[in-house]
Amino acid sequence: MNDSPRVIVALDHSTADEALALITALGDAPYAVKVGKELFTREGPAIVRTLVARGTPVFLDLKYHDIPNTVAAACRAAAELGVWMVNVHASGGPAMLRAAREAIADGAHRPLLIAVTVLTSLDAAELAAIGIKDSPEQQVLRLTRLARDCGLDGVVCSPQEIAAVKRECGGGFLTVTPGIRPAEVSLDDQQRVATPASAVGAGGDYLVVGRPITRARDPRAALSAILDEIAPAIRQA
Ligand code: C5P
Repeated sequence: MNDSPRVIVALDHSTADEALALITALGDAPYAVKVGKELFTREGPAIVRTLVARGTPVFLDLKYHDIPNTVAAACRAAAELGVWMVNVHASGGPAMLRAAREAIADGAHRPLLIAVTVLTSLDAAELAAIGIKDSPEQQVLRLTRLARDCGLDGVVCSPQEIAAVKRECGGGFLTVTPGIRPAEVSLDDQQRVATPASAVGAGGDYLVVGRPITRARDPRAALSAILDEIAPAIRQA
């Protein structure tokens, strides 16, 4: 755990050129990157191959959700691309989650398999509209337990949920948390935020950081400040 990168830089860029310019600007500090739907849809697996070939760990954030056979095949394809982390929607159900896990279990390279529980854009009214009467919090915990029971490695959650996830599932069950904002930085559109040090102090494993690094005047300095901020909390963990 201590050897893996703790900060995942969200490459929310439109083109490979923009994303690679940022990577060049970031220098040699230890970090991973998140490739999401926009960049992947525009640039395809070539951008992932380029990043992997440079030695940059890639979280492929495509949130697979489909029938078990299709999700299993997609996860296998992601593993073959050499990604470090991949994710699926826990609401795809236990058969889909188990199929995803089994698909990557015996490959030459096994990515971390992370579940998305409830999208933060879904509030109680949105959940009710799709037939879920429980609160978002209850649904998050239900899907977190399901992901753990199906052998996934962890969940995406807000920094405020790290402690509950760890209590429920144990310290080894990983948390991947967006909503990270260094104290002096704009919140942008994030509501439930934590500083890098408080997220790691709460037991958080991987911090997803986008705009505080990608829109910084000096992205390398912004990343380096975050790594310096979390170093004491990592040593204490
Ligand atoms: O720029 P910022 O640090 O807010 O970027 C956070 C990244 O994490 C973005 O790629 C965003 O889509 C993603 N994310 C999020 N909140 C979630 C799930 C994913 O901000 N609940």
